[in-house]
Amino acid sequence: MPFLTLSHIQKSFGGTRALTDANLSLHAGQVTALIGENGAGKSTLVKILSGVHQPDAGEIQLEGQAVRIDHPEHARELGISVVHQESVVFDNLSVAENMFVGDRPRERGWVSWRTMRQRAAEVLKQLDATFDPDAPAGSLSIAQKHVIQIARGLTRRARVLIMDEPTASLAHREVEELFGLTRKLSAAGCSVLFISHKFEEVFDIANRYSVFRDGASVGEGELAASSRDELIRLMVGRPVEQLFPKTPPELGEPLMRVEHLSRTGEFQDISFDVRRGEILGIYGLVGAGRTELAQVLFGLESADSGSIEVCGRRVAVKSVQEAVREGIAYVPEDRQTQGAILPFSIASNLALPNLTALAPRGWWSAQRETQLADEWVETLKVKTANTATVVQDLSGGNQQKVVIAKWLARKPKILILDEPTKGIDVGAKRAVHAVMDQFVHRGCAVIMISSDLPEILGMSDRILVMRRGRVRALFTREEATSEAVIRAATDA
Ligand SMILES: Nc1ncnc2c1ncn2[C@@H]1O[C@H](COP(=O)(O)OP(=O)(O)OP(=O)(O)O)[C@@H](O)[C@H]1O
Ligand SMILES: [Mg+2]
Repeated sequence: MPFLTLSHIQKSFGGTRALTDANLSLHAGQVTALIGENGAGKSTLVKILSGVHQPDAGEIQLEGQAVRIDHPEHARELGISVVHQESVVFDNLSVAENMFVGDRPRERGWVSWRTMRQRAAEVLKQLDATFDPDAPAGSLSIAQKHVIQIARGLTRRARVLIMDEPTASLAHREVEELFGLTRKLSAAGCSVLFISHKFEEVFDIANRYSVFRDGASVGEGELAASSRDELIRLMVGRPVEQLFPKTPPELGEPLMRVEHLSRTGEFQDISFDVRRGEILGIYGLVGAGRTELAQVLFGLESADSGSIEVCGRRVAVKSVQEAVREGIAYVPEDRQTQGAILPFSIASNLALPNLTALAPRGWWSAQRETQLADEWVETLKVKTANTATVVQDLSGGNQQKVVIAKWLARKPKILILDEPTKGIDVGAKRAVHAVMDQFVHRGCAVIMISSDLPEILGMSDRILVMRRGRVRALFTREEATSEAVIRAATDA
């Protein structure tokens, strides 16, 4: 008998039918992968299981008994532990406080800090985590924050562990650590639900799958008896071309040249150039200094020493305005907080960085705004009724697409993308790659930071590998193999 069963679940938000007929069963000691396109309803189901939303119809059974999961605390009492797609860790609280948030151990009415720290240390030890319960959560990496969320679940006995795209911003080694932990919990009898857009990971960690399309279940089974192509066909309803849409580059002169660039504590002595028509991939583990480098190139932070040239001219990129004036655009990894203005519509978000184009001579044109938005929604297949929808109401992956579109629409000379296809489904991933390819063929350059090895190998003309703030290797497309790139990125 399955440990947890969901039958015929329905859920609407206003006019949007997020789930129409969702079915799922989770078994003790098994890892089930939930897959589906952006907007298929995966996170909505997770929010129902974690007591954030109530279903409009349908039934949830736990060990054969119908249950109602009233609120998140109730879900935890039932042993359901969740790592949400948008990580909810409070940076200014300690690790232990985060683990017991809303649920601090008390003695005679008073919070017992000693018990809390002790219990936190026990759980962290169980997870082989090496960080201190007293450390401020803000000092941890994204990977470590995931561990806190899992640990939070384990402060109660976790019988169901749900992870909604936990690996989206993790590099190779951190994914392996997370999977090690997942296997351990699963072997101890926990039922695991794993959501990801990366098929290699699905086949690596899960033994069962369940596919959603447009809010309804369209298939489930054993992964051993299935193939990637078959899963994609179920998800999308048609086959998707899998090769990367990369055409031979036409390289021109260097557009950007960086020499001996350093920022204390973050990266040292970084030198590289990127030419017209080129995609330069930057690979490294989380913490290698890639994002910090991108932030300096875009004027969000300043370098302590070294130089940056654009089109052969030395520039001092001291602010974002200057970077934009030099034709540089940057799509940040943390698109939730740095990328989109969530309460604004898709159309306004796209219009914002493009006001000069939309308002020639100062006259803003609503028609042009809608036209621009329609074009990009179509290109990147954003799932929405229309471009007046507020970004907040889109699924995680569709929010990502809006932020990418917002900067692509600006037609910069040099485009810096940080984890461009994180959280994006297989069809849209291909669309983003195709846009990158067309972009460099217009004589522009792309700097692509990515932890997705197939993407790095599939799209880059050259690959720069960083480790602990330094350049460790530079490969041409021909030289690069996954082994060589991983070896350069890790200490081994
Ligand atoms: N609070 C909300 N208000 C309005 N619409 C919503 C809300 N939450 C989700 N939706 C809509 O419900 C649908 C399903 O969204 P959901 O987040 O479950 O998708 P998902 O499968 O998790 O996608 P992704 O892979 O992009 O994370 C989408 O069309 C989304 O816009
Ligand atoms: Mg989601």
